[in-house]
Amino acid sequence: MARKVAFVGGGVIGLASAWRMASRGWGVTVIDPTPGRGASWVAAGMIAPLGEAEHSETAITRLRIAGAGWWPDFAADLVRTTGMDIGYSMTGSIMVAVDSSDQLVVEDLASLHHDLGYAVKHLSASACRALVPSLSPGIRGGVELPDDHHVDNRRLVEALIESCTNVSVSFVRDRVARVVFGHDGAVRGAFLGSGELVDADVVVMTAGAECGAIGGVPVEASPDVRPVMGQVLRLRPTPGSPDVARTIRGVVHGRPCYIVPRADGSVVVGATSEERGFETTVRAGAVHGLLDDARTLVPGIDEFELAECSVGLRPASPDNGPIVGWTGAPGLAVATGHYRNGILLTPITAHAVECLLTGDPLPDALLPFDFFRPGAARGRARSRSDVARTGA
Ligand code: GLY
Repeated sequence: MARKVAFVGGGVIGLASAWRMASRGWGVTVIDPTPGRGASWVAAGMIAPLGEAEHSETAITRLRIAGAGWWPDFAADLVRTTGMDIGYSMTGSIMVAVDSSDQLVVEDLASLHHDLGYAVKHLSASACRALVPSLSPGIRGGVELPDDHHVDNRRLVEALIESCTNVSVSFVRDRVARVVFGHDGAVRGAFLGSGELVDADVVVMTAGAECGAIGGVPVEASPDVRPVMGQVLRLRPTPGSPDVARTIRGVVHGRPCYIVPRADGSVVVGATSEERGFETTVRAGAVHGLLDDARTLVPGIDEFELAECSVGLRPASPDNGPIVGWTGAPGLAVATGHYRNGILLTPITAHAVECLLTGDPLPDALLPFDFFRPGAARGRARSRSDVARTGA
């Protein structure tokens, strides 16, 4: 008999994993009041292994690079099975500096890219403007990031919902009241807010920043994730607004700012990083700051229509790495903590969830990011060897 899995949370990680599992013949349910409308919807859609790399995060950078490698086949598969255009654009990015201190930040990142084995192309101010003519003449210079791409994350969400529907994934638009365990300690499913039971042999927590607060989950099987707020703007083109030829990552007087283009000429401007718990209020100061930085990079930003200001909650773990694996509670797995890299790491995570549930080895780059590393669980997690016996 086909096994059943319930995904608690239908963002890109839950949807892509659901698609994969249903394609393998499993009975799959995605439980989410509004699938795809959380952080996945607010994101800018960058697939950027290098643009946000940090010297201190070697394993995460390795994972980002591995994750980017999964994108071309994943995108092709999604487009082929749905016939939908997901705006996957391999035009690369450019990172630019505004003042001399910003130039040092860009140089430092370039040295990391060099250490990682990438050929670094330094660009003069005029070379930056040759690549992106709408850049300000005040830019000091930058580097090219030819391997940092983007996708239209909203089209991605819609295509994933379509691909899930095509392979008979059930969508339950409700909240989980609590995960249910049987007398043997193994997962039986999840009770919904409505009181109904969704029966499942395996439950995977894919609710992003909310994964640490799912009812019924013992503290030792609960991931330590917190929300990191990102305020994001969406600007629509007008007849006078410039073309933004590729993703621009700017360091603007010490502040990071990115401008990500869409096929229809609109742009996404982001993002703040704020620790405000689960609050989702758009602040006037954040909108002002983002617009100010964006127009320092591209003066023609003034001509766009301000179409949307929104807030996404990035799921962050204590070490900024994702948490993907069994939790030690039999039949309960987790895939969260993707922080700034949710879109980038969607294909590799979906593959890892598929490996986990079918008993195949996970991709090497994800091995350091299981639930049993120090700090990943809210309580004292069980040991890896216990889990080898009880996994699913
Ligand atoms: N990766 C973009 C962000 O988190 O703002």
